[in-house]
Amino acid sequence: MEIFLDTASIKEIKEYLPWGIIRGVTTNQKIFSNEKGINFRDRVQEILSIIDAPLSIEVTKTGESDQALIDEAKEYSNWNPKNIVIKIPMFGNGRGISLTRRLHEEEIKTNVTCLMTTNQVLLAALSGATYASIFFCRVRDAGGDPVKVIADSKRIIEESRLPTKIIVGSIRSPDDVAQAAVAGAHIITITPKVLSQMPFHQKTEDTIKEFDQAWVEFKQSEARLQPQIVIA
Ligand code: E4P
Repeated sequence: MEIFLDTASIKEIKEYLPWGIIRGVTTNQKIFSNEKGINFRDRVQEILSIIDAPLSIEVTKTGESDQALIDEAKEYSNWNPKNIVIKIPMFGNGRGISLTRRLHEEEIKTNVTCLMTTNQVLLAALSGATYASIFFCRVRDAGGDPVKVIADSKRIIEESRLPTKIIVGSIRSPDDVAQAAVAGAHIITITPKVLSQMPFHQKTEDTIKEFDQAWVEFKQSEARLQPQIVIA
């Protein structure tokens, strides 16, 4: 299981890189819209200059032709073919499947996104997606069971020996992370806000304080020991 960071903020990426556990970054249009006053390409390159790992960026020309989307995907991928992963939405008319297949044939890495059902994950994997992104809390918002979608999708991918990795996004709490991990996610992409909450438990804090106090008491009793006088 790996953790990706769900952000386009340089400050946030730099804050969590020292943990040494971040294996990639994911973004979308909403995440970029939180970053005011930046140039898209410059920010993508800045992210990749501080983390040499997969970075998902999404195509935006959804109202245009398939060729326009392919051209957009190729343009982004050319910026850094090793690390840039192109997010292709799972459009309801199947368009995302053929687009993913075309990009796969050109060895462009893809992340089929906005997935809510096991069938969508299956189609993404069969089309050659490098990653398939299940949106945990949005599945729940829609009345689905994200744990079942992840577990069933993982089973199908493994039994079919498909190389697609499941990324679970749309995570809103540390408990969502644990549920997604147990369900079998290959990768969970987590916002810095949720990641920052994960190390904390009040009982852990209380236990550290209890041990600190015990150590103070031990050192006090040690200091009260008389030095041993050895007479030859
Ligand atoms: C990640 O790839 C997704 O784009 C992101 O986690 C979606 O999160 P949201 O449901 O909070 O918008």
